[in-house]
Order: sequence, then C-alpha cells, then structure tokens
Amino acid sequence: MKHQINLKGKSFLTLLDYTPEEIIYLLDYTQALKKKKKAGIKGRLLEGKNIVLLFEKTSTRTRCAFEVAGYDEGAQITFLSNSQMGKKESIEDTAKVLGRFYDGIEFRGFQQKTVEALAEYSGVPVFNGLTDQYHPTQILADFLTIRENFGKLQGLRLAYVGDARNNVCNSLMIGCAKLGMHFVAVGPRSLWPEEDLHSKMVDLAKTTGGSIVLSDDPTTGVQGADILYTDVWVSMGEEDQMEERIRLLHPYQVNRAMVEATGNPEVIFLHCLPAFHDTHTAVSQEVYEKYGLKEMEVSDDVFRSEKSKVFDEAENRMHTIKAVMCALLADNDEMSK
Ligand code: CP
Ligand code: NVA
Repeated sequence: MKHQINLKGKSFLTLLDYTPEEIIYLLDYTQALKKKKKAGIKGRLLEGKNIVLLFEKTSTRTRCAFEVAGYDEGAQITFLSNSQMGKKESIEDTAKVLGRFYDGIEFRGFQQKTVEALAEYSGVPVFNGLTDQYHPTQILADFLTIRENFGKLQGLRLAYVGDARNNVCNSLMIGCAKLGMHFVAVGPRSLWPEEDLHSKMVDLAKTTGGSIVLSDDPTTGVQGADILYTDVWVSMGEEDQMEERIRLLHPYQVNRAMVEATGNPEVIFLHCLPAFHDTHTAVSQEVYEKYGLKEMEVSDDVFRSEKSKVFDEAENRMHTIKAVMCALLADNDEMSK
C-alpha cells in the first residue's frame, strides 16, 4: 500500500499533534506489521536503532509492548526506571545525554511537560508512554481494536464511563474528535474533562462529522453506544483519593445493566487495563464492603463476557507501538513498499 505520509523524525507526544490522515496511516501501518508478525516474518526495520524506555510509573503492557515490538524489528532496547532525571540531573541535561546515545526515547511518567522537554532537548523522536494528561499510544490500540470489530471508525459512538478527566479519557476524546466519531464522557460533573480541551474538541468534532458530549447520567449517557469504555477510578499517582473516587464513581460501574442500557446488541466493551474486575485485584476489602462492591469500574461478568475485547486491545498495544516506532524511526518505510 502506497502512502504519501512521512512521519520520520517526528515525536509522538499527544494525538493533538497528528492529523486524522496520519492517525489512519499509523493504523494501516499497524495492520501491515501485524500481518507480517502473524505470518512469522522477522522484521529489520529498526535494525541499528537504540531505544531507551524511561519509566517513572509502573507498567506491564506499555513496557513489554515497546520491548517486544522493538526486538521484533531488530532494535536494541534499554529499560531505565532509576535514572538521575529529576533527582540529581535536570530533564534538559538528561535529554541531551540520551539524545547522544539513542535514536528514540520512550517516556512514562507524571508531567506532560517532561515528555515535551525530552523531545525539545534530545533531538530525537520521543514517544509518550503515558503522562497524567495523555496516553496516546493506548488510543491507537483502542482504535485498531474498534476497526477490527466494526470495519470502520467514522460515525461510531463511544461512551467512556468513569473518571472523565484522566489521561485515557483526554486522549480518547481527541482521537474521536479527529476521526469523526461520537464521543460521550459519562461521569460525575466534578470529574468531567477540563473545559479548555473539551471545548476545543467540540469545535474540532464539528469539522469531522463527529460530536463530543458530556453526561452525568449513567443510563441515558450510554444509550446507542457501539463501544463502552472504562478505566480505573484512581490513576497512578492519585492513590490517596481511592475512597472519594469510589463514593463518586460507584454509580458508574460498567455492569450488565449498563450494557443493557446501551440498547445495542452489538456493543463491545474496552478497557485499557489493568482493571479492578474481581476480588483478586481488590485494593481494600473494607472499602468494597462499605459501598457494597465486589468489583470496581467493571463487573467481572462483563469483563469476562464475549462483548469484552480487552485482551485483543492489549495485544494491539504491541502492534500499534511497533508501527509508531517504525513510522518515526525506520530508514525504510514498510508502507512505501
Ligand atoms: N494500558 C496500559 O498502559 O497498561 P500498562 O500500565 O500495564 O502499561
Ligand atoms: N488512567 C490510568 C491508565 C493506566 C494505563 C492511569 O494513569 O493509571
């Protein structure tokens, strides 16, 4: 497949920096790479490239996705979770050093301005593996999973339920606005997205045929949804707010009643994972009992139902991250063949 798009040398910090065509290009690139991997073909697109994975926060999927994706295409990977950055050394100096060693830098951590500074001072492409504000690589995997299930993205209705001011919700809202999807954030008003981003996305969606709506009603808010999406009620770094979030969010649990409330027999369930869906992941039995909960943001039966595509979505993290690294770093573009 021939594409005119060239992303070589660009960073991947937020979907705000990418056009709809570029996002679709990354999804198409992923499809080609996924097909290649399933056919057992070893790639060499990242041969000779050194990539460092800089982690301030914990991870299973994102770290492993970057490592496996990189190795599949011949890259050398360094995992770094105990650097001097922010302790004995500034972000600027760290970026300048890493930029001399590496061809690309992945960062997962707290502040969006850290990933932006790494890109500014390193001189090499930087990939945002999650900050407090955005989680852009996650949304590529979500959109690929949606496209695999529905054969399209444009015009679909995605209801994101729960903590609607977190990184995943922000990035989903941007992605939906860019690709002409109907996005509804369903949660209590105190957890609605920040107004500035929300109003910009409302305006953007008007130009793409999509729409962005906020609702605090867990029944009407999800009506007509093709995709029900939720995330943890407490993101990394906010653990001290657990009880307050349970109090605010327990009416917004994704369960069978909510699936029914969509009125759509074809609805699918997505979650970026990790998920609090059973007692194995119970954070506090005492808090659960106080609110009569067995699970948190999603009931175990929905999580394990045939509607749930969460493990396809998790697998797609690896394929989509591979496409991002190849599109931004590779000398030879798989898509131009
Ligand atoms: N979805 C996601 O980012 O998972 P990890 O926190 O395990 O990387
Ligand atoms: N919102 C979650 C996403 C985890 C992948 C967090 O930031 O912890």
